[in-house]
Amino acid sequence: MARPDGITDLSHIRAKAPLYKDKSVPAEIRVDNLLGLMTLDEKIMQLNQYTLGRNNNANNVGEEVVNIPAEIGSLIYFDTDPALRNAMQHRAMEESRLGIPVIFGYDAIHGFRTVYPISLAQACSWNPVLVKKACSVSARESRMSGVDWTFSPMIDVARDPRWGRVAEGYGEDPYLNAVYCAASVKGYQGKSLSDSTTVAACLKHYVGYGASEAGRDYVYTEVSPQTLWDTYLPPYEAGVKAGAATLMSSFNDISGVPGSANPYTMTEILKNRWRHDGFIVSDWGAIEQLKNQGLAADKKEAAARALNAGLEMDMMSHAYDRHLAELVAEGKVSEATIDDAVRRVLRVKMRLGLFDNPYTPDVPDRFLRPADLKIASELAAESMVLLKNDSTLTLPLRNVRRIAVIGPLADNGKDLLGNWLGHGQAEDVVTLREGIAGEFGKDSEIRYARGCALDGHDRSGFKAALDTARWADVVVLCLGESLRWSGENASRSSIALPAIQEQLAEEISRLGKPVVLVLANGRPLELNRLEPLANAILEIWQPGIRGGEAMAGILSGRINPSGKLAITFPWSTGQIPVYYNRRKSGRGHQGFYQDITSEPMYPFGHGLSYTTFEYGEPTASKTEFRRNEKIKVSVPVTNTGDMTGAEAVLWFISDPYCSITRPVRELKHFEKKTLEPGETAVMEFNIDPWRDLSYVDADGKRFLETGEYNVIVNGKKISLKLTE
Ligand code: BGC
Repeated sequence: MARPDGITDLSHIRAKAPLYKDKSVPAEIRVDNLLGLMTLDEKIMQLNQYTLGRNNNANNVGEEVVNIPAEIGSLIYFDTDPALRNAMQHRAMEESRLGIPVIFGYDAIHGFRTVYPISLAQACSWNPVLVKKACSVSARESRMSGVDWTFSPMIDVARDPRWGRVAEGYGEDPYLNAVYCAASVKGYQGKSLSDSTTVAACLKHYVGYGASEAGRDYVYTEVSPQTLWDTYLPPYEAGVKAGAATLMSSFNDISGVPGSANPYTMTEILKNRWRHDGFIVSDWGAIEQLKNQGLAADKKEAAARALNAGLEMDMMSHAYDRHLAELVAEGKVSEATIDDAVRRVLRVKMRLGLFDNPYTPDVPDRFLRPADLKIASELAAESMVLLKNDSTLTLPLRNVRRIAVIGPLADNGKDLLGNWLGHGQAEDVVTLREGIAGEFGKDSEIRYARGCALDGHDRSGFKAALDTARWADVVVLCLGESLRWSGENASRSSIALPAIQEQLAEEISRLGKPVVLVLANGRPLELNRLEPLANAILEIWQPGIRGGEAMAGILSGRINPSGKLAITFPWSTGQIPVYYNRRKSGRGHQGFYQDITSEPMYPFGHGLSYTTFEYGEPTASKTEFRRNEKIKVSVPVTNTGDMTGAEAVLWFISDPYCSITRPVRELKHFEKKTLEPGETAVMEFNIDPWRDLSYVDADGKRFLETGEYNVIVNGKKISLKLTE
């Protein structure tokens, strides 16, 4: 039979140097050739991932593999030095029969050693270009340290801030997650995966993990097919289009079929419809957990269900290594399924260039390079959101002689790194206190008092804090969360700060001094008691290693804040879930509470600047247009204040009626631009009806309906009509 690649001379394959070792041969042919030479056992080993060495994830201290076979497909690598990787890779290349390289993975989520703000913060920058740059730094540091593959980006749309993993994604909006997803994939993977500075990306956690009930981790999720397509899948589709090499299946049970054994999501959608040709790795131990979820009687059945559903690699369940051979013998898993899975894994390894360059050279000075630190400062600054700046215009601080820096986050580097801090070190961090000293130290006197710990009942530090505040002209009060309060397995039943921190704020505020509240946290907070106590509130999130510097730059006015919220801040925990793009109610309002306001504290898109921006009326190149016509909507935006500032212009669509009801508003486009005082920019949204006005039904079929659409920008609306 003729080969699809047209190769007729197979002498290579039989020769001493088989085709798969020949760089000049196209990757797909090399993969085919190798696959043809592998035994079933060798194939099965490619579908397993173990850990190599110490695991730094407390949630995943699993069964340690003492004797790692030279044939192993993948290892999780916890070191920053490539030596151990190279030693293991030598074994794989030299001691396994076919010399297949191992792919080494690691969770470099928001930086490897140069730690950037958490992803939720990055989303508030509205600057995907900068996010892409940060990801490429992370990729370079990772690859040079022996890591070929990062388990990032996390693109789980999340609307329950009790869930600790809101910190890891890009907020509550599907479109925003999709845009950042594509940017980060491009940042990680660069132009070619085989560069020595890029890594394979991994879209996770596929899919619907963000729909966690009551904000609890790992639990059942109720996701209707319509919501799956409208809300949870779009970021994944964007990531696949951007070329993401791999995905990670999710822990959650999606309305009765767990993510790690779900043929609809993994095979039908990802492989058949989206034509993804890389592979899926399970989340840690997720195949074994199918037993606990009640889908499989034992680990063996779990292995069959997962592989047959389209899950190629087993992360630490020991389900594939122990049971696949037997399942093949029993006819419960076909060899063709195994071959397809192995082909996908080998393809990614081939694309990474691992067959040709399996070892990592030891490059000194690869961490914390000045240009990378600059990105860390810029991204931290752009991620910060000025939530409040009262009528006395507290910020920026000008001519203040005495500054009190108070609070449990003021002199605390570690917690500013956030969860999943990679190989970040507390010593690398510019703390808030250090940032203020650097920014104001020449002209002002600065005193520090911790006041209290992040949690607990110890008020013994209050007196010193109050004395310090009494002495000062302004108090910078640094409150927030420990890095352990968000991330995996870090849910909170209340998103308010612990009482001790609120009490400290209350007592300080009674002194009548201007109070600037600086918040460092990994999720939206309940601020209804703290808000009246502060004159200004700056949300800095967990801003990474340059957080203190960026925060102080905003306080002084050296930097004009430009962040806007990518996730709603509820008025109280009881409002959760509350997000801007809810579907409409029959009564035309969002439903009222008897006891509290129905409005959130700070909505999606909220964020103040030191300057003012005025929006003109939006206009359209055409208000009536046809399906195949592209039109342009424009709005003039003027900086009417006296300070240079950047404005993120957010474009929403609202559809008054549709055969499948739509949310009140949906973000469809955004752009951020810096404007000098007095400068006007005409901002544009180029509408492609099929891309921007179509929707998917519950089976993912895209449709475009004629009729009325509204484009909304900064609350101003223009009506458009789509005709046949
Ligand atoms: C997490 C993943 C992570 C994996 C490997 C899991 O527990 O859910 O996000 O990539 O561990 O560390």
